[in-house]
Amino acid sequence: MSHEGPPTLGGCLTVLGIETSCDETAAALVRRHPQGGAEILSERVLSQNDDHAPFGGVVPEIAARAHVAHLDRLIAAVMAESGMDFKDLDGIAATAGPGLIGGLLVGLTTAKAIALVHDLPLLAINHLEGHALTARLTDGLAFPYLLLLVSGGHTQLLVVEGVGRYSRLGTTIDDALGEAFDKTAKILGLGYPGGPEVERRAKTGDPKRFPFPRPLLGRDGCDFSFSGLKTSLRRSAQSLEPLTEGDVDDICASFQAAISDCVADRMRRAMDQFRLRFPGKTDPVVVVAGGVAANQALRAMMAQEAARGGFTLSIPPLHLCTDNAVMIAWAGAERLALRLTDALDVAARPRWPLDPDAAPAIGAGVKA
Ligand code: KG4
Ligand code: ZN
Repeated sequence: MSHEGPPTLGGCLTVLGIETSCDETAAALVRRHPQGGAEILSERVLSQNDDHAPFGGVVPEIAARAHVAHLDRLIAAVMAESGMDFKDLDGIAATAGPGLIGGLLVGLTTAKAIALVHDLPLLAINHLEGHALTARLTDGLAFPYLLLLVSGGHTQLLVVEGVGRYSRLGTTIDDALGEAFDKTAKILGLGYPGGPEVERRAKTGDPKRFPFPRPLLGRDGCDFSFSGLKTSLRRSAQSLEPLTEGDVDDICASFQAAISDCVADRMRRAMDQFRLRFPGKTDPVVVVAGGVAANQALRAMMAQEAARGGFTLSIPPLHLCTDNAVMIAWAGAERLALRLTDALDVAARPRWPLDPDAAPAIGAGVKA
């Protein structure tokens, strides 16, 4: 496949997108206009949070079974809502990785079946590319731009240079940022997913009471690390047991303050690197995606850091920041416009870095 050679397809492209890489089952129909504008024709997301909550994290087997149970109905719903038939589509896009293999197989196999029956092009999408290109759908952003992806499974800083062209500036070497929130919540006996609850408790807590470590702060590069912070937090919590409500609030506030300092430091470095790489770029943009973008305290910090660095901060609407199928359909349409289609025997890839040239981050596993 080539990224530059083939001429783009003219006319509107309507693509069905399917997302099943983690614990959201989603389907959406998106139309891309020839000049790059877009319409979301219909979208559905079914969160499995309640299925996984008793376990404090996503259980792969439960997730895969739930995708099987719900995906067909969601696809039927988005088709019915848009009044379209499969024969009206220009392509079928499904997340092919990275993610949990059971879920990926459910979505990708469904997409292959539809593509085969209706003789449509298949687009096997990298989930991270879906997050990376969303700001082009919502804001019509031009390349290049900086992306900070902060979700339960991923924490990365990337330069988005073009469709299929990414360069990773940094990634987590252990936990993802959302995972750090979820593990904190678990330690403190709060619910799952932990982010919203930790944020709520942090509002009334004292951010200075616990001097938690700020891993990698001030170090070169744009990598992240959160496991040392988690260990320190666990120790503090254990030493205070039984925890009062005030203790929990203070731990949450101190944790969020530490996280915020770390992300701010990495953002600053990434913006510097972006400027060095694109010295002539006027009005540079930093896009934030992933569920952690819901956090108001972090959003305020990001707005401040972006402004300080002379960048515009762009955060897509929250339902497009978290996992969804609109981003998969849109990435599919962008790839289809460049004729970057996939064969029907394309395989699901539990690990699939967006930037294959980036050095593997030790311990990062699927998050790399
Ligand atoms: O992108 P997302 O919906 O799903 C995947 O990771 O696949 O992100 C979910 C993550 C969870 O870890 C959740 O705890 C975190 O985003 N999150 C938050 C907040 N809302 C969700 N983290 C911090 N503050 C929040 N308000
Ligand atoms: Zn995601």
